[in-house]
Amino acid sequence: MKILLLGSGGREHALAWKIAQSKKAENLYIAPGNAGTDSVGENVAIKADDFDSIKAFVLDKSIDMVVVGPEDPLVKGIYDYFKNDETICHIPVIGPSKQGAVLEGSKDFAKAFMQRHHIPTAAYQTFTGETLEAGLKFLETLKAPYVLKADGLCAGKGVLILPTLEEAKAELKEMLGGMFGTASSSVVIEEFLSGIECSVFVLTDGKNYKILPEAKDYKRIGEHDTGLNTGGMGSVSPVPFATKEWMQKVEERIIRPTVEGLASEGIDYKGFIFFGLINVEGEPMVIEYNVRMGDPETESVMLRIKSDLVDLLEGVAQGDLDKRELEFDERSAVCVMLVSGGYPEAYEKGFPITGFENVKDSIVFHAGTAKKGDSIVTAGGRVIAISSYGSDKDAALKLSFEGAQKIAFEKKYFRSDIGKDL
Ligand code: AMP
Ligand code: GLY
Repeated sequence: MKILLLGSGGREHALAWKIAQSKKAENLYIAPGNAGTDSVGENVAIKADDFDSIKAFVLDKSIDMVVVGPEDPLVKGIYDYFKNDETICHIPVIGPSKQGAVLEGSKDFAKAFMQRHHIPTAAYQTFTGETLEAGLKFLETLKAPYVLKADGLCAGKGVLILPTLEEAKAELKEMLGGMFGTASSSVVIEEFLSGIECSVFVLTDGKNYKILPEAKDYKRIGEHDTGLNTGGMGSVSPVPFATKEWMQKVEERIIRPTVEGLASEGIDYKGFIFFGLINVEGEPMVIEYNVRMGDPETESVMLRIKSDLVDLLEGVAQGDLDKRELEFDERSAVCVMLVSGGYPEAYEKGFPITGFENVKDSIVFHAGTAKKGDSIVTAGGRVIAISSYGSDKDAALKLSFEGAQKIAFEKKYFRSDIGKDL
């Protein structure tokens, strides 16, 4: 099979690494990819949301399947673009339709969907500029801290958690006044939930589903979960509190009603669903949906899938996912992210990265890297993900931290407390 994978981050390198191991993968192309993905496939200089160029490439190379890494092309409707074009409608796109992608693209849609299908989530109401006064009144009925969410996509920056009622009111006015452009012309205000978060991933063909290994992500830049939110500083799989009993609750109360809810509403969904969950005194609740794999969760989760990923993706495309095998690797897997100093605020790019050859016991996934002549240079905030296996998480973490010391670039930073809270 000839496969085109869209995206350019650590998630895509991990997906490409796993796809390339499949006996069913004949050729793998990554658009646009990064300096790491071209060691497992061939990079193609096309942006992940340039649909017309993607179409031309897919026809030129007789691509058999398109796998979508990031949310952007999905929210912009790449699935529908293929489906509605008779020259490429036979090529499966792994990812939801534009309508399905609204689960991630609109917090208000996601909350209303959960309410319709009785899926446990925080109580909420949605407000616009016209209902600002009602929003301010609603805040008065809640207890601190206050959770405000811009309805639309804001590159992970659209959620504010505010300690006082005054700040919450001021921020609500700012958000509805255009703080995040049109993304915050509607704002979801919701009840604050206290607990530990866990990311659960499902692959669905729209009817059947397979639950992939879960992972915990470390979002804050600083050790002990301090400082600004990032795209993610590391991940650990499995998650100790995601026991068989807990995962059973997740499946019964959250996963099954979601997949059935999508089908009953006629929403075409063949791809990954990412459930951002929180464990509230033993009960799983949904914080958010994403319509793709997580990053940096994928850099641990792919290590824990023993089965052939392409076979599973084929099951998604053909609607017989129930007949495909999904076996987990029983070992632990972790990832530690090396980032550019300054990230998630301003940082410099273009520093040479060295020491790859010294990392022998981990898998080095590239995130923000680029080739410059013969060297590899930093090209993003999150630069390198160092993923490792271990008999338990501590053994795996030891290897990733050793690897993190061996790779060098100017102003490198990483969190040395990944996994220590579990
Ligand atoms: P989201 O973009 O919805 O995932 O929110 C970003 C982060 O904000 C989440 O990963 C949580 O850490 C936090 N968060 C979101 N909603 C809530 C909530 N209702 N209660 C507590 N924390 C929340
Ligand atoms: N790691 C969280 C995300 O991918 O959104």
